Amino acid sequence: MKISKQDYSRREFIKKNSLIGAGTVLGLSAVQGVFAQTLNTSESLTPAILGGKAVREKGWTKWPYWDPAAMDQEILKVVRSGVWSRADVTTEFEKQWAEMLGVKRCLSVVNGTNALIAALVQLGIGGGDEVLVPPYTFIATVAAVLNTGAMPVFVDVDPETFQIDPEKIEAKITSRTRAILPVHILGLPADMPRIMEIAKKHKLLVLEDACQAHLAEINHQKVGTIGDAGCFSFQNSKNLPIGEGGAIVSNNDEFIDRCFSYNNYGNPYGSVVGEVGAGTLMLGTKIRTTEYQSAIGLVQLKHLKKQTETRSENAAYLKSKIQAIQGIIPYKLYNHVTKAAFHLFPFRFDQDEFEGMSREVFLKALRAEGVPCSGGYATLNNMPYLDHAFHTKNFQKMYPKKMLDFDRYLSNNQCPNNDLLCNRQAVWLTQNLLLGPKTDMDDIANAIEKIRKNADPIKKKIQV
Ligand SMILES: Cc1ncc(COP(=O)(O)O)c(C=O)c1O
Repeated sequence: MKISKQDYSRREFIKKNSLIGAGTVLGLSAVQGVFAQTLNTSESLTPAILGGKAVREKGWTKWPYWDPAAMDQEILKVVRSGVWSRADVTTEFEKQWAEMLGVKRCLSVVNGTNALIAALVQLGIGGGDEVLVPPYTFIATVAAVLNTGAMPVFVDVDPETFQIDPEKIEAKITSRTRAILPVHILGLPADMPRIMEIAKKHKLLVLEDACQAHLAEINHQKVGTIGDAGCFSFQNSKNLPIGEGGAIVSNNDEFIDRCFSYNNYGNPYGSVVGEVGAGTLMLGTKIRTTEYQSAIGLVQLKHLKKQTETRSENAAYLKSKIQAIQGIIPYKLYNHVTKAAFHLFPFRFDQDEFEGMSREVFLKALRAEGVPCSGGYATLNNMPYLDHAFHTKNFQKMYPKKMLDFDRYLSNNQCPNNDLLCNRQAVWLTQNLLLGPKTDMDDIANAIEKIRKNADPIKKKIQV
C-alpha cells in the first residue's frame, strides 16, 4: 500500500477535525446501528488500512483448545503404560464418539482423508464408478474418490447455503453413478432429507463427508449418521482436534467390521495390534490411530458440546448484526437444520454495494481492522490434479478415452455458482473467533461496517 505525504496530511486533518464532529454527533443523538457501540472517536473512523486505529487490537480465542489439567494427565498415563498403538483408550474414544452422535458404530483412523477412502472402498466404490460431489469442499473429498479409481462428477452448489444443490443432482446421474458424497461444508448441514430421497429413488449409496461438521444436526439427527456411512476429521483446525485423526461411523455392523479389517491389514475384526497369526481375510492397509491421539480425543469430547453451543449462539448473534449491512449476505441454513457446527462462519460479499471494491481489498481491509479472514476455497472442478489422475495407468485402463478427455470433462463439470463463491463472494471467519464473548462479535460487525462506510476512499487508495 502506498500513501503519499499529501494523503497523510489530509488524513491527519480529517482525524483532528472530525473529532469535534464526532463528539457533536454523539452528544446530540443516540447513534444507531452496530457501528455505534464501540467506535466513538474519529481515529477509529479512519480505516486501519488507511492508517487509522484498528477496531480490534487484541488477539482472539486460541486454537486448538488445551485443557492442561486433564490432557497432561491422560497423555502421561498412555506414555507410562507403554501401550501406544491402538488399544483400549481408542476403543473407549470410539464408543463415546458413537454415543454422542447416536450411531451404532465408529472406527477411528489416521485422518479424515483415509476415513473417506476406506469408507468408499468398503461401500464397494471403485474403478469405472461415478461419485457425485460438490465442488465447494476441501481437496480431500475429491482426492478420496479418485484414489478409489472412481470418477468424481461435480454438482454445483446453492450459493445461499454454500452446500451441494440437491435440485442439480438428478441431471448428473448416469448409468455409472454409484454414490452421492454430500459434504456438510463449513460445518453447516447439507440438505440431507432431499439428498436421501434422490438416493433412494435412484438406488445410490450416500457417504456423508462430515469432516467439518461435528455435532451438526438435521431434525435432531447428527450429520454423518443419516446416509450409509459418515466420515469425520480430527485434524488440528477442526472443532474436535487431536492433531491428526479421523473416523468412520455407521449403523451397519457388517460394513464397520470390514472397515476395521481394512484399517488393520485385512485381518479379522477384533484382532489386536501385534497379532500375526489370525489369518488375513481381505485386502487391507494400515490406517490405525494411536492411544495418544485417542487420549486427547477423550478430553476434547468433554468440551465439545459446550463449545458447539457457544459457536452457535455467537454465530446467530453475529449474523443478526451483519445482515443489516448492505452488501453482506450471511449463510442461510435449511429449515430442518436443528444445529450447525460452524467450523467456519461464512458470508457473501457483494462488491456492488462496496463501491466496486474487490473481495481481496475487502479482506485486506478487514484483516487490517484486526479480524482474521479469508476468501476460502479455489475452484476444485478445473484443477490439474484431475487431468493428472486421468493419465495414471489405472484410469487409462478403467475408462473409455472419451471420459478422460479433459476438455470434455471440464465442460461437463462447470459450476458457475461455485465459481462465484470461490472467485468473488465468499468470506470466511474461523471457528475460534466464535468462541469468545459477544463483544468479540461486536468487534467483527463494527469492523465490517467501518469498511462499508469507508468503501470509497479504500477502493480509491488500495490495490491488491
Ligand atoms: C470437508 C473435508 N473433507 C475431508 C477432510 C480431510 O480430513 P483430514 O485433514 O483429517 O485428512 C477435511 C479436512 O480438512 C475436510 O475439511
